[in-house]
Amino acid sequence: MKIVTVIGARPQFIKAATVSRVVSGVNEIDEVLLHTGQHFDENMSHIFFNELDIPVPKYNLGIAGGGHGKQTGLMLEKIEEVLISEKPDMVLVYGDTNSTLAGSLAAVKLHIPIAHVEAGLRSFNKKMPEEINRVMTDHSADLLFAPTETAIRNLEKEGISKTKIINVGDVMYDASLYYLQKAEGKTSILTNLGLREKEYILATIHRAENTNDDQILSGIFNSLEEIANNHKMVFPIHPRTKMALDKMNYSFDKSSIKFIEPLGYLDMVMLERNAKLIITDSGGVQKEAYFHKVPCITLREETEWVELVEKGFNFLANAANIKEVLRLAFQTEISADDGVYGNGFAANKIIEELLIFKNSKSI
Ligand code: UD1
Ligand code: UDP
Repeated sequence: MKIVTVIGARPQFIKAATVSRVVSGVNEIDEVLLHTGQHFDENMSHIFFNELDIPVPKYNLGIAGGGHGKQTGLMLEKIEEVLISEKPDMVLVYGDTNSTLAGSLAAVKLHIPIAHVEAGLRSFNKKMPEEINRVMTDHSADLLFAPTETAIRNLEKEGISKTKIINVGDVMYDASLYYLQKAEGKTSILTNLGLREKEYILATIHRAENTNDDQILSGIFNSLEEIANNHKMVFPIHPRTKMALDKMNYSFDKSSIKFIEPLGYLDMVMLERNAKLIITDSGGVQKEAYFHKVPCITLREETEWVELVEKGFNFLANAANIKEVLRLAFQTEISADDGVYGNGFAANKIIEELLIFKNSKSI
């Protein structure tokens, strides 16, 4: 069976790394990687392919930036050309980015079956570009690989046939287990940054809803700076956030926050594991905080990963109440993993299901 995997953004490289590694050992599946180019900086793209041993994509479309319509539209046109020439039996997409949507639309219009990894996540906030991308992708897909029981319920409520939905667990849990072993002993990020275990806060912000509005963005950074006056804070900065802060003439050199370039995954894992607290708006980082038993504050109105909020391990907050929430978060002890995100073998389960699909269609 030939699969074209469409990826383009940082978290997708990490997710795909776990699945592609298992696929490479399976003779019945031939995977062709297509990188849309959505993320393109060395530290946002290339570093992950090197560190995580992801094969060099056969295609890199070099499409990035621009509005949603232009970005997604250009991707759609080029992905369609690739699919027509490659004639895959299936298209594999991850998550909820514009690359995900473009891959799904190109495939569904050509009647090529789609497998969606991370199906069923919902914020129920249609203003998030990711929410539109997820819903459209799930309703186009033939195999919906859900990471949690909540995701399964969301899909069932939308009337998607149960026969297409499988709870495989979270591929990001697989990644965090596998690459933690690789990171240990390999990275010297703490020493390089002059940080000691459990003595610093790790922060990341990149969501459109936090960075597109100057008032919201400055509110967040005013609060983070106040916190950073009392707690060391390290902040690997996403290019979207850097651009937004530059536009506001933010004084990076006077800030109490220690800004650094975006990190490779192995360095990031080590910084997460040794942090005393994580403050983020990232979907992936919220869960990694839990995987590494670090309390987390999520600067968003809502989250798709509701389990961690319900368990009291992750706290939703905004610029106005974050300092109050900080006290609660510091008192939080994360208990043992209860399997809510699977058992670390989501990628294997995905491959099993792909092979069942292949045999059922006699591919
Ligand atoms: C995208 C996803 C978001 C995901 C995030 C992961 C969409 C709609 N959003 O958001 O769901 O959480 O990736 O990080 O798909 N840029 C660079 N260099 C890069 C990458 C981006 O300069 O390597 C610039 C782009 O040119 C653009 C801006 O950053 O101006 C935002 O990039 P874009 O890919 O459109 O969205 P993200 O905010 O990265
Ligand atoms: N990440 C990384 N380096 C960084 C910041 C994040 O490797 O400097 C990893 C992080 O550990 C997680 C993933 O990127 O695995 C999350 O990506 P991001 O926050 O960009 O997107 P989201 O998960 O919100 O879609």
